[in-house]
Amino acid sequence: MTKDNSQDQQPQGLARGLTNYGDMDFSVYLRNSFAASMGYSREVLKKPIVGIANSFSGFNNCHRHFPEMLEAVKRGVLLGGGLPIEFPTISLGEVFLSPTSLKFRNLMSMDTEEMIRAQPMDAVVLMGGCDKTVPAQLMGAASAGIPAIQIVAGPMMTSRYEEERLGACTDCRRFWGKYRAGEVSTAQINDIEGRLATTSGTCAVMGTASTMACIAETLGMSLPGTAAIPAVHADRLRAAEATGLAAARMIERPILPSEIITEKSVENALRVLLALGGSTNAIIHLTAIAGRLGIPVSLQKLNQLSDETPVLVNLKPVGSHYMEDFFFAGGVGAVLRELRPLLNLDCMTVTGETLGDRLETETGWVDRRVIASAAEPLEPQGGLVALFGNLAPRGAILKRSAADERLFEKEGRAVVFTSLEDLAARVDDPELDITADDFMVLQNAGPRSASGMPEAGYLPIPKKLSSKGVKDMVRISDARMSGTAFGTIVLHVSPESAVGGPLALVRTGDRIRLSVKNKSIDLLVDEAELERRRAELPPQPSTANRRGYDKLYAEQVLQADEGCDFTMLQPVKG
Ligand code: FES
Ligand code: MG
Repeated sequence: MTKDNSQDQQPQGLARGLTNYGDMDFSVYLRNSFAASMGYSREVLKKPIVGIANSFSGFNNCHRHFPEMLEAVKRGVLLGGGLPIEFPTISLGEVFLSPTSLKFRNLMSMDTEEMIRAQPMDAVVLMGGCDKTVPAQLMGAASAGIPAIQIVAGPMMTSRYEEERLGACTDCRRFWGKYRAGEVSTAQINDIEGRLATTSGTCAVMGTASTMACIAETLGMSLPGTAAIPAVHADRLRAAEATGLAAARMIERPILPSEIITEKSVENALRVLLALGGSTNAIIHLTAIAGRLGIPVSLQKLNQLSDETPVLVNLKPVGSHYMEDFFFAGGVGAVLRELRPLLNLDCMTVTGETLGDRLETETGWVDRRVIASAAEPLEPQGGLVALFGNLAPRGAILKRSAADERLFEKEGRAVVFTSLEDLAARVDDPELDITADDFMVLQNAGPRSASGMPEAGYLPIPKKLSSKGVKDMVRISDARMSGTAFGTIVLHVSPESAVGGPLALVRTGDRIRLSVKNKSIDLLVDEAELERRRAELPPQPSTANRRGYDKLYAEQVLQADEGCDFTMLQPVKG
């Protein structure tokens, strides 16, 4: 074999990030020979490489169709003159993870970032979908800093039970509530169990996954019109092909995530989140994504935008329709066109066009039953609001669009549960001293608690009240709630109780005042008494007996208002 190691003969994509063992030619030679072992010709290895971060997993029902989508992405990359090379990352299937999927979002972001950086690729396609996978990939790609484009799984189709339409997971909660209240029999609930989620794809309502998909499209990190395409629709395969093609094109004219995710595009994403009546979790995720590029997202800013952004989308859990209806009604594009006067139009997207360019040319029929016009919105103000006060000095979140308005201006007696275990042990006790006018308070369920901020903020209505027809109560915690849940639920109280936040000082019998109008939440206990209680708080638990990722999480995780990212993953200043 003749020696051929001149630079111009070297495959270009494959030479990226080559380790220098002191003999660069040998490094190239070695890498080429191992690539050859996979059947690649030297010719094909000269093509630019598009990595495909594939989060398929047998533990992720939402990504079940990824093998088929992957083929379409690869086809698109080849069409664009690139070489597609798939690689796995960890996956986060929402309902199969313990203690909570949020705990592993940062781990997936680290996996994604490091594998993009460590392996030779010129651009990357991010295949995500289920709740935490979308932000994890965007966080990782933002930090890795090479051209990146996301394609999501798309939503599930709805199903049927008798004459009712069913969509995970708002209807899971609705029927479980009826079962708890004795309105649905055991035989019926078992029958419904098999009908709630019947196709691949993400939850069928405007939960966290769908909200994050719409945010990714609004930011400009995925192709226009792709967020809402149902998982099993042929258009999703065409979107996957187009995404592969766009990724290959991004190599010729590199556009970095930092040019797309900017203060202005993040503001657009917040607007869309508010207009969707989207998931409370999305605030945490968007804050974390923006944080990777040093862009702050303040809850004061959220309130300012919320005051001037109407709710336009009539989807469960807030409204009445499902994601497939949103797709056929016009999807994200229709929402963007209505919000246009409020948006920053000069934001760059993965196509190389700005948001303004997109909206210039885009038209289409809109189903007004699902997507309202800005002139006649469903609600004049945004779906989410941040509350501040002595109970939440750094803020708390209420999804007002999913709450009972009659509870918005209210003072109530606190009934405190000190942990998830305490809640589980006592909530259905017939002796529990509680009325529908009380405020249920859950402590120790924030990011630094042993539970790692689970979606436990949707506290079950005590059986003694739900069986009498009570459907909603004020519930307050430092936990999160599922994007598919609803109720007058105050979440993400910051700082959390595990780090000695004021939530830790609440005792059963205290009075709490909620005012959505004033955007406030206050514990009506005098400061001297709070000081006395503060002095009695147990010391913060040591992390000495924890290990591995669990220890890293406990020591690094930031509070909810900072996106629950890790301190060490923030950009280095200067
Ligand atoms: Fe994956 Fe709901 S379980 S989006
Ligand atoms: Mg969810």
